[in-house]
Amino acid sequence: MTSTTQTVPQVVLGIETSCDETAAAVVRRGPDGAVEVLSSAIASQIAAHAPFGGVVPEIAARAHVESIDGIAARALADAGVGFEDLTGVAATAGPGLVGGVMVGLSFGKAVALARGLPLVAVNHLEGHAVSARLASEVDYPFLLLLVSGGHCQLLAVDGVGACRRLGSTIDDAAGEAFDKIAKTLGLPYPGGPALEALAERGDAERFVLPRMLLGRKDCDFSFSGLKTAAARIAEGLTTAVERADLAAAVQAAIASQLAERSNRAMAAYAVAHEGRGLRFVVAGGVAANRAVRARLQATAEARGFSFTAPPLAYCTDNAAMIALAGAERLALGISDPLDAPARPRWPLDEAAANANPTHVPGRKGAKA
Ligand code: KG4
Ligand code: ZN
Repeated sequence: MTSTTQTVPQVVLGIETSCDETAAAVVRRGPDGAVEVLSSAIASQIAAHAPFGGVVPEIAARAHVESIDGIAARALADAGVGFEDLTGVAATAGPGLVGGVMVGLSFGKAVALARGLPLVAVNHLEGHAVSARLASEVDYPFLLLLVSGGHCQLLAVDGVGACRRLGSTIDDAAGEAFDKIAKTLGLPYPGGPALEALAERGDAERFVLPRMLLGRKDCDFSFSGLKTAAARIAEGLTTAVERADLAAAVQAAIASQLAERSNRAMAAYAVAHEGRGLRFVVAGGVAANRAVRARLQATAEARGFSFTAPPLAYCTDNAAMIALAGAERLALGISDPLDAPARPRWPLDEAAANANPTHVPGRKGAKA
């Protein structure tokens, strides 16, 4: 990491390839912090993965290789800028599927080298953390609920790169729970949006599902009991109405757990941040869910916190959030060397993840 203070506007090309979206974007950030998304291009791989019911890493990496040039060119064209107008390049360096991360990071390094631009190797989670700032003014510090397919955590975000973990999942991430339960309901990948659509017609009261960890005094999450209970009920369902009712009950149970744990975190956060402005931000793919947003908004308002969620397009993976995370770092004079590694696991709060891994080592490890 190198550091030289800069006060010029940043025009940053962002690259995102950590999962199943190949994305590139151009974001302009003025010295006053004003943010303008000049373009945000995304090539979704949903059609390539759908036959397998989930993301296949090798297919994802290959699709990123095939799309990255065209998507980056489209992002520049849509923004009306050329490489010569850029002040930096930001590429996701992890956590994520490492084959895909290497594609985007290598592309970013190549542009940086060829054009003599600074490179920022961005933590994908830091991208989600700043995503609400793409469309709304949200000052630091804020309390963040990061809920996506691979991550479920509550973080106190004090500034650029300064995150403290307050809670994390001890098993699945919330999006993972949506996806797996959707699969048992026979819904197509990606399951979260499909389950939300089905739940619209359902009665959330018909099935009683376990309320996980409600008695616990920490801010951790757990979804495995819900997943098991929902799978057991799904096996015995025969009608479309019953399936919609189960979808509604699952969505309500996930929203309720997210709100209950966030409520706990808000109480602790309010004590620690007295007088500094109470802001609650939700980000990540699950933040696109309207029932989840509504529950969290009500919880935040009851606690005296402002509530901000990104526009739907910036909840799920995109490169504008990566470009902004890069621009915020560049504005502080922070960039990374061209040998920055691709990291399959990369917790935002590394100290907390090392001292108290809520996950045993395994498929998800400290990334969740
Ligand atoms: O942030 P994201 O695009 O990728 C990760 O970094 O994981 O999040 C994707 C996750 C998937 O699990 C997807 O099912 C979930 O977000 N998701 C939703 C909705 N839209 C996306 N879950 C529930 N309701 C939605 N509307
Ligand atoms: Zn993500």
